[in-house]
Amino acid sequence: MIEINKVSKAFKQRKGETYTVLDQVSFKVQRGEFVSLVGPSGCGKSTLLNLIAGFETQYEGSITVNGQSITSPGPDRVVVFQEHGLFPWLTVLDNVAFGLKQRGLSKKDRYELAYEQIKAVHLSKFVERYPHELSGGMKQRVAIARALVMDPEILLMDEPFAALDEQTRYILQKDLEEIWQKTRKTILFITHNIREAILLSERVLVMSTQPGRIKQEFAVQAARPHALDDPLIHSLETRILAVLTDELDKVVQGEIDHEYSI
Ligand SMILES: Nc1ncnc2c1ncn2[C@@H]1O[C@H](COP(=O)(O)OP(=O)(O)O)[C@@H](O)[C@H]1O
Ligand SMILES: [Mg+2]
Repeated sequence: MIEINKVSKAFKQRKGETYTVLDQVSFKVQRGEFVSLVGPSGCGKSTLLNLIAGFETQYEGSITVNGQSITSPGPDRVVVFQEHGLFPWLTVLDNVAFGLKQRGLSKKDRYELAYEQIKAVHLSKFVERYPHELSGGMKQRVAIARALVMDPEILLMDEPFAALDEQTRYILQKDLEEIWQKTRKTILFITHNIREAILLSERVLVMSTQPGRIKQEFAVQAARPHALDDPLIHSLETRILAVLTDELDKVVQGEIDHEYSI
C-alpha cells in the first residue's frame, strides 16, 4: 500500500522566494488498486510521482510503501514516462531484458523473462527490431514490458499515452486494462485526460492547482471493462469535468489576460 501523508513540496525560485507546488497532499493507494490522478498541467502531478518514485527526497510529510519510508528509487516501484526512454542501440528484446542484468540472472533466463513480457504487450514478432523501426504505440508497449519484467509491486505511470494518437491510445488503454486484470499490480496513473482516467481506474483523484492539493475523489463503481456508453461512466465524466473546469480557469487566469474566462 502507498500512503501519502500531508506531503508538501516547494521549489526555490530564481529570486529566492519559494513556490509551493504541493500542499498537504494525503491519499492512499491499496495494494492491487488502479488509481488515477488528474489535474491541470502544472498542478504538481509529476512532482508527486517523482517523490513516490524516490527520485526526489526533499519534501515535508511522509510517503511510505507498505509502511517503509521512501528514501530512494527501489525495485518495488517502476516508472513509465510519456517519453519511452528506450536505448536506441538495443533491440526490443535487449531493451526489455536490460534491467534484469543487475539481478544476476543468466542471459537465457533474462531473455526468457523479457520474451514473456514482450508477448504480454503483443510484440513477439518484433523482438529483433530497434526502437526507430517501431511506431509510437509500439515503443510505449516496449516501455511497459520493460517495466513489467522487473516485476515491481507498483507501476507509476506519468501520462504514458499522452503523445499517442487517439486510436493508438485507445488500444493501449485496453491493453493496460488487460495487464492490470492479469497481474493486479498497484497502478498510480497520471493523466490529464478525464475519460482515460475513468475508463482505466477504480478511483480518480482530482487535483487542484496553485498549490496542488487533492480536491476531490471519485470512485468508479461501474462494471469492468468500463464502457463509455455506461450512463454511470458518462455522468462521472461530466462531474469530474465540472470540478476540473474551475481549476483550468485558475490556470487561464494565471497565464493570460484577465478578462478571459472559460
Ligand atoms: N525542479 C523544479 N524547479 C522549480 N520548479 C519546478 C521544478 N519541477 C517542477 N516545477 C514547477 O512545479 C509545478 C508543477 O510541475 P509538474 O509537477 O511537472 O506539473 P504537472 O506534472 O502536473 O504538469 C510547475 O509550475 C513547474 O514549473
Ligand atoms: Mg507532468
